[in-house]
Amino acid sequence: MSVDLNIRYGLNPAHSEVVEACSHVEPCQVLDMGCSNGRNALYLSQQGFNVTAVDNNPNAIAMLQQIVNEEGIANINAQVYDINNAQLTEDFGFIACTVTLMFLDPACVAAVIADMQAHTLPGGYNLIVCAMNTADYPCPMPFPFTFDEGELRDAYQGWELVKYNEDVGTMHNGARLKFATMLARKASQ
Ligand SMILES: C[S@@+](CC[C@H](N)C(=O)[O-])C[C@H]1O[C@@H](n2cnc3c(N)ncnc32)[C@H](O)[C@@H]1O
Repeated sequence: MSVDLNIRYGLNPAHSEVVEACSHVEPCQVLDMGCSNGRNALYLSQQGFNVTAVDNNPNAIAMLQQIVNEEGIANINAQVYDINNAQLTEDFGFIACTVTLMFLDPACVAAVIADMQAHTLPGGYNLIVCAMNTADYPCPMPFPFTFDEGELRDAYQGWELVKYNEDVGTMHNGARLKFATMLARKASQ
């Protein structure tokens, strides 16, 4: 049995939605958007995905690259990239963006989502988990961006929503807010 690299390097386990998505998505080229120090990228790599992991924090990318080097991992490509640019240059079978969109420039988010969609291969998947701000659960965190009710679902019209909810969740600091959680599959043709 292979060693769990998240445990070896003291990282949190992969996001539960990434783990769950792996029961739907076959190993393929995956983009981890806002990878931080790589908890999801390392998990996906160990599941057999070829991972491109991007973050605009050079220190986070350096930490992940150090693990990649130490372990001789061949299937993770870690790069500094500003997601706000919305200029992906490759296509992917799976794009995962967990708890990251809320840190982006609100003026860029629509273009970022359109770029993710355009760079998803036919039959491929997008996973998004992002904070919301709603009348019943006003977002207590000063995130630059939050989704309104139904906003993420509306942005994925024409895609199969394998999973979609706007459930209440609790952050590490105890703050309670709604999160839009979506696994969507692009049409095959
Ligand atoms: C809360 S962490 C989430 C990390 C990871 N996706 C996870 O599920 O654990 C948000 C990450 O988004 C990154 N980030 C924020 N704004 C970004 C941007 N404009 N471009 C790229 N990464 C960004 C941060 O550096 C941070 O690593």
